[in-house]
Amino acid sequence: MNAKRFKELHMKFLGNVDDPSRSWFQKIITERHRDRWFLRVLPPLKGLDVLDLCGGYGMFGAYLKSVRELSFNYTCLDKDKLRIDLGPEYFKTFNLKPQRFILHNISNPLPTPPNRFDMVWLFGWCSSFFNCIKLFREVSRVLKPKGRFIFNMARAGGYKTKYSRKGLLELLKKTNFNVLKLDKIPNGVDFGVVAIKSNN
Ligand SMILES: C[S@@+](CC[C@H](N)C(=O)[O-])C[C@H]1O[C@@H](n2cnc3c(N)ncnc32)[C@H](O)[C@@H]1O
Repeated sequence: MNAKRFKELHMKFLGNVDDPSRSWFQKIITERHRDRWFLRVLPPLKGLDVLDLCGGYGMFGAYLKSVRELSFNYTCLDKDKLRIDLGPEYFKTFNLKPQRFILHNISNPLPTPPNRFDMVWLFGWCSSFFNCIKLFREVSRVLKPKGRFIFNMARAGGYKTKYSRKGLLELLKKTNFNVLKLDKIPNGVDFGVVAIKSNN
């Protein structure tokens, strides 16, 4: 399926859903600088177990499976019951097998055993609402050794993070990550980070 068809089906799905944050979800992954950065830094996913934190309906997973035709195991976690309940239907919209959806608030410990995932994504979240040390420690816990954490952090605008570039590096070191990439995304707003769980 091409991106245009994906967008058509995505909008059709949203048209039937009464989502108060509809305007956010109307943009697909190719329509934001931040998400295009994500697509550029994404390593091969074949056979990997991926956890998408704050994943909404699972758009990142659905796009990569239906447009990119990538084969990986996808788990989408979100605190919003409407989105998590509708996630399987969202996947059916694209003729994809329903994936794993978990209703959970990331302010609390993640409901998965240690060393479970090869990769964790966290996009479109607001770091100022969270205890980032606690959250990143949790991400490190659920990742397999050498697992990859790919996320954004707003460095400007209304949801600006309290971390500078240096502070972010320190946060990642403290929470058991080596940083592979820490980019200023060319939207003037976000840091984009790729970090690897270290062995310590
Ligand atoms: C702006 S959307 C981003 C969706 C997707 N990651 C993306 O980038 O398109 C933010 C999502 O984070 C979820 N969210 C916000 N706070 C959360 C929390 N504390 N725990 C889990 N999910 C949360 C919201 O319900 C919403 O679905």
